[in-house]
Amino acid sequence: MLGARAGLFATAADCRYRCNRKMPKTFFITTAIDYTNSPPHIGHAYEKVLADVIARYHRLKGDKVFFLTGVDQHGQKVQQSAAKAGIPPAEFVKEITQKFVDLWKKLGVKYDEWAETTSNRHKKVVQGILQRLFDAGQIYKDKQAGYYSVRQEQFLTDKERGPDGEFGPEWGQVEFREEENYYFKLGQHKEWLLRYLDSRKEAVIPEFRQTELRNAVEKLSGDLCISRPKSRLAWGIELPFDKDFVNYVWFDALTNYISFAGYNPAADSYDKEPEEFRDRWPALQIIGKDILVPAHGIYWLIMLHAMGFSDEQMPQLLVHGWWNLGGAKMSKSAGNVVDPFVLSEKYSAEALRYYLMSEMATGSDADFSEQRVVVRYNADLANSLGNLLNRTLNMAARYKDGRLELPEGEWLQNPDQGPNESYAQEIGKKVESYKSHISVARTLPLTFPITIGPYVVNAAIGNILAIADQGNALVETAAPWKLAKASDEASKKRLNSVLYSLAETLRITAILISPVLPKAAHGIFDQLNWKTELSGKEERFSLADAEWGRLPDGHVVGKPVPLFPRIES
Ligand code: MSP
Repeated sequence: MLGARAGLFATAADCRYRCNRKMPKTFFITTAIDYTNSPPHIGHAYEKVLADVIARYHRLKGDKVFFLTGVDQHGQKVQQSAAKAGIPPAEFVKEITQKFVDLWKKLGVKYDEWAETTSNRHKKVVQGILQRLFDAGQIYKDKQAGYYSVRQEQFLTDKERGPDGEFGPEWGQVEFREEENYYFKLGQHKEWLLRYLDSRKEAVIPEFRQTELRNAVEKLSGDLCISRPKSRLAWGIELPFDKDFVNYVWFDALTNYISFAGYNPAADSYDKEPEEFRDRWPALQIIGKDILVPAHGIYWLIMLHAMGFSDEQMPQLLVHGWWNLGGAKMSKSAGNVVDPFVLSEKYSAEALRYYLMSEMATGSDADFSEQRVVVRYNADLANSLGNLLNRTLNMAARYKDGRLELPEGEWLQNPDQGPNESYAQEIGKKVESYKSHISVARTLPLTFPITIGPYVVNAAIGNILAIADQGNALVETAAPWKLAKASDEASKKRLNSVLYSLAETLRITAILISPVLPKAAHGIFDQLNWKTELSGKEERFSLADAEWGRLPDGHVVGKPVPLFPRIES
């Protein structure tokens, strides 16, 4: 039988190639790449931590993951900020880029590839794509005259005028301009985009964002200007077919999603793309609500379509809301940006990760409050989870010298012997609910349209807390301190069962929380004396292990060390 199988392949290499192709595809996840005109703020931190949590969850599931993030270094905004600072743009972006890199390190954002749009690797792909689209007649030269927003780097039409006939403050400085430029035939693909959105239910998550996008596509008219004369903007990628122009910043920035994933613009069909790229693409792309329309929902999808990507090869867009401050938009000019470095120094990186992930319902907006960082941490981590860890290990040490005894039958499943479902079954249900919130699509009642869809990380965290609460409730109802005093056989058995169940509860909780709080999850495992040989390594946690009853008979847990000391404000 084995021999017959091996015979199917001409050579070992052939076998490896074909066998590999049958392996599950890589889970590819991206974020927006941040402008390097000013240092990172809390909004940038939220998006990257969200992507990191989803990436870590997939690694926990055993998936091969490719997580791409980076920085957007070209464009007028950067050129202007550099000029203001009195240093060349290349030097300016280097400094700001370093701040982003430092922040991701501090916050434990663990990416696989880092995108910088000034890199040669990226430039080559952008130029290759431009040339192909130009050769295919998708790009043409034309003259335009009109009002131009310097801040948004685009020409404005009458549609952008407010009721008073003026261009609103969101456009910043507006001036009259006339210039020749290159255009991408965006309008030509409008019907295709409408058909695509109608045929794919979760092209954009949450659902209401897909509706918003579709409505915007209906109104789409005209083409996209993709160049700037060098005389006006020097800080960009030169057009391969006209050296007097540089590429418009969005076209350049969007291309990062494929240029850093191994895409080859010279391949004449998708099938001829490098294996590495086809194994990764398409991606789950995390972006903020401000860059869905038109950038990702229209420009990007149409760019891919024009390049020859099929409907099945379109990325899925996960759109998150915005962090506001006192109900107002955060912006550098308003001087109300929240600095993630300061917060993570003050409260710890994990306290900040926890706040960002638990406080914002994925998809909707939230108001940032430093006070809530403390409240959340104290209530959920110090009180609920930290307390469960502390009392479990204390009681195990005091009553059993830390030694757990594997209870049997009904005792293993139901230490509280309540009338309802067994304790273990209830935990199992919460684990399933966690999984479905964090990655599988669900249908919710229409009254909560905002929470429909997968990747509802805050709800998954709610499931973890519910598990910790169940453990704390067991302590209260079973009162192990009373059982320890009693001398009858049934009380002894019950005490063993309760302590074992609490340790199991903690073990499972640590696995589930590991994508959000990797350090704390290691802390719990360390104190449980569990998988110590893998201490500090991500492989220590696996979703398959989040099943009841894995701690062996006679396992000795460690002494408690406060993992989440209360923050006194
Ligand atoms: N450079 C472009 C994106 C190019 S992607 C090919 C850009 N940069 S940005 O720095 O302005 O924004 C980067 C990401 O941060 C965007 O997804 C944006 O929505 C997000 N956020 C910026 N401010 C935010 C908040 N206040 N809250 C949450 N996210 C926010 O756009």
